[in-house]
Amino acid sequence: MASALSGASSTLDSSADSSWNPEGASFPKSFAWGASTAAYQVEGGWDADGKGPSVWDTFTHQGGDRVFKNQTGVEYYDKMIDSLLANDVTPVVTLYHFDLPQCLEDQGGWRSGAMVEAFDSYAQFCFRTFGDRVKLWITINEPYVMAELGYEEGMMAPGIKELGTGAYLAAHNMIKAHAAAWHTYDRLFRKTQGGLVSIALNSDWAEPFDPNSVADQEAAKRHVAFCLDWFAAPIFLNGDYPAIMKSQISAMCKRQGSPSLRLPEFTEEEKMMIKGTADFFSLNYYTSRKIKHRDNTHSPPSMSADKEAEQVTEPSWPVATGSSWLAVVPWGLRRLLKYIKDTYNHPIIYITENGFSQSDPAALDDTQRWEYFRLTLLEILKAIYIDGVQLKGYFVWSLLDNFEWTCGYRSRFGLFHVDFENPALPRAPYKSAIEYAKVIANNGLMKSHG
Ligand code: GAL
Repeated sequence: MASALSGASSTLDSSADSSWNPEGASFPKSFAWGASTAAYQVEGGWDADGKGPSVWDTFTHQGGDRVFKNQTGVEYYDKMIDSLLANDVTPVVTLYHFDLPQCLEDQGGWRSGAMVEAFDSYAQFCFRTFGDRVKLWITINEPYVMAELGYEEGMMAPGIKELGTGAYLAAHNMIKAHAAAWHTYDRLFRKTQGGLVSIALNSDWAEPFDPNSVADQEAAKRHVAFCLDWFAAPIFLNGDYPAIMKSQISAMCKRQGSPSLRLPEFTEEEKMMIKGTADFFSLNYYTSRKIKHRDNTHSPPSMSADKEAEQVTEPSWPVATGSSWLAVVPWGLRRLLKYIKDTYNHPIIYITENGFSQSDPAALDDTQRWEYFRLTLLEILKAIYIDGVQLKGYFVWSLLDNFEWTCGYRSRFGLFHVDFENPALPRAPYKSAIEYAKVIANNGLMKSHG
C-alpha cells in the first residue's frame, strides 16, 4: 500500500515559474480525487438505533450519535464501506470529527488524560472491524479547531470557555491519543492490513501585513506555529511543541506573573511516543490571513493573546458568500504546501478538505465558486511541478450541502445542492460538481490529448 503512495513527483525548474502554464498539465498518475463529509454533518438520526448523544447534540440543544458497541452503527458503516469499494471509491476514514460522545465529555472530555486510553480502544475497535477494507485512516479531524473553539473560546461544542489553558490542555491529550492510536495500528494491524494512519491538520497561510516589518514577519510565523506547527512539530519532527510557541507562552506567563507555564509539557518518554506517528500529511486548507504584530503584554491570559498576532482583513481578497471568515486565497495554499515540504521533511501530502461556501439560497450555477476551485487546482499543479511537493490527493469539502456547525444549513459547501425544506432531501449537482467530475475524468483541467 505504501508504495502506491510514495515516489517523488517530477519537478520543473523554479525559474520556469512565470513562463510555465499549468492550465494544460495533467495531475500525476494515480492522483487521488475525492470529496469529504463528516458523520454529524450529513447523517441525521441523532437518536436512532441506540446511538447515544454527542457533544454536538447537546450543544445544538436537540438533546440527543455512534459506532462503538453499537451493532447497528457497525452495520451502517460496513455497508457504506462495501458500497464505496463496489463503486471503485477508496474510503478514507476519519475516526473522530468533532462529535465526542457526551458521556465522555461528562468525564472531562479532551481536558482529561483518560481520553487517551478511551480513544485508543475505540481506534483499535475500528481498525479491527473495518481495517480489512479501509487502508487510509485519519485519527482526529482538526485538533486545532476542537481545542481552540471547543475548549478555549467555547464557540463550538462542548462550549468550554477556559481562556489561556483550555486549548493547550485539550490539544495535549489529543496529540497523545492520536499517537497511542497510531502505535496500536503499527503494532497490531499494519503488517496484516497494510494501511496508513495520519491526523488531519488545518491551517491558514499567513502573510506579514507589512512584508518589510520584522515584527510582522515574526507574527506571521507565530500565527502558523500556533495552528499547524503546534500539532505537526511534535508528530512529524521531535515529539515536542515548536520552540517558538514554548518561548512565546513562557514569556507571556512571566510577564503576567503566572506561577506556572500554561502550556503542558511532554515527558521524555511521551516525546519518544509521539515523534513520527503519521504516515502521511493530511492538510485541510481554506484561507489565508494578513498578520500584524500586536503587543499583548497587559492582556489577560488567552491563547489568542499569547500569539501576539493580529489578523488584518485584506480588502482585495474575495470572501466566500456563505462564510465571512473564508477569504479566498488559492496561492496561499501553494505557499502552505511548500512550507510543509520544507519544514516537515518532504512528506506525502493529501489535501483532505478544501472548499468555498455559498450562502442560502444558493444558485446551481455557481460559476464564481468553480472559478475558485479552478484557481486552486492551478496553484496545486504549480506546487507539484514547480515546488516538487509530494501531493497525492485532493478532496473537496464537501460532497453535499450539510450542517455547517454553528451556521446550521445556511452555509452551503456542497458539490451537490440539498433541498433541506423537502423531507425527501432531493439533491442536484452544482456546476462545480459537473466541472469537478470533468477534472477527475481528465486528471487535469483540460481534456488530455493522445
Ligand atoms: C472544517 C471542518 C468541516 C467543515 C469545514 C467548513 O473546519 O472540518 O467539518 O465544517 O471546516 O467550515
